[in-house]
Amino acid sequence: MRLALTVFAALAGFVWTAEAEDLSPAELTAARKLNVTKCAKCHKLYQPNDYSVPDWDTWMVKMAKKSKLKVEQTSLLNRYFDLQRAGAVPAEKKPGK
Ligand code: HEC
Repeated sequence: MRLALTVFAALAGFVWTAEAEDLSPAELTAARKLNVTKCAKCHKLYQPNDYSVPDWDTWMVKMAKKSKLKVEQTSLLNRYFDLQRAGAVPAEKKPGK
């Protein structure tokens, strides 16, 4: 737990300097959970950085529908993926892969 806090503090510092949109620890956890439970249900976890911004946005519109995300879940995930793109949070790997 102490380690997690330290890591978060380090991340928060980075987010601040990168001026990326901030996510609270709870939001970060919720976004990760959505990514792993919804997106990884059908395929591996794709990385925003492997796509151009317009391509990724197009995919997200499609995939939000496929995942049956609510509006607020979609916006949370979008903010989370923006942070991933900025390198402020580490890329996620599908558990067990
Ligand atoms: C119901 C199954 C399903 C869910 C849930 C789902 N996807 Fe997909 N995804 C697919 C399929 C099938 C494709 C292949 C392209 C297509 O048919 O649209 C795909 C393709 C993609 C691609 C493009 C891969 C490529 O070809 O380069 C990305 C990126 C992606 N998904 C991201 C996500 C994200 C992020 C989420 C969670 C918000 C998500 N997906 C949820 C089924 C799903």
